[in-house]
Amino acid sequence: MKSIQSWALLVLTLFALTLIAAEPDVGPAGSVNNLMQTVVTPATNTIWGIEDPQTDEEWQVFIDAAAQLIDVSRQIKNGGTGPNDSAWAEDPEWQRFADQLIESGIEIQAAARVRDLDTLMDVSNEKMYPPCEECHLQFHPGMQ
Ligand code: HEC
Repeated sequence: MKSIQSWALLVLTLFALTLIAAEPDVGPAGSVNNLMQTVVTPATNTIWGIEDPQTDEEWQVFIDAAAQLIDVSRQIKNGGTGPNDSAWAEDPEWQRFADQLIESGIEIQAAARVRDLDTLMDVSNEKMYPPCEECHLQFHPGMQ
C-alpha cells in the first residue's frame, strides 16, 4: 500500500512538473501587460545595460536575453489573456511593432555571437527602442 502511495505521489509530481515546464508553449501565457513586465522589461533592461562582456558566459547572457525577447514578441503577436489583447493582436500596426522587436532580437543575437559590441548597442538603441515607444503611444497612450 505504502509503495503504491509513493508511486502515485511521484506520478502526480511529474505531472505537475510537466505542466509547469509546458506552460510557455500552451497558448497565450498570461496577458500582454504581464508579459511586458515579467519578460520584455527584464530582457531589454539586460540588453540596454550591456557594458563590456569578455567571456563566453558573459556574452551568452545577451544571446539568452535576445532569445527571450524574440520568444515573448512572438507570443505578443498572438495576443494574450488580457481583456484587449486579442483585438490588439488583430491590428496590423501591432504586428509591425512586434515584428520590429523580433528583428532587433535576431540582430542582437547575431552581434553577440560575433562579440560585436558596437552593433549590438546600435541595434538596441535604434531598432529595439523605437517600437516600445511607438506601440505604447498607439495602444497604451497613458504610459510615459
Ligand atoms: C506591440 C506593441 C508593444 C510593444 C512593441 C511594446 N509594448 Fe509594452 N505595452 C504594450 C501595451 C498595449 C501595454 C499595456 C497593456 C495593458 O495595460 O493591458 C504595455 C505595457 C508595458 C509595460 C507595463 C507598464 C504599464 O503602464 O502598465 C511595460 C513596463 C512595457 N510595456 C515595457 C515595454 C518595453 C520596454 C518595450 C520595448 C522593448 C515594449 N514595452 C514594447 C504594447 C507594446
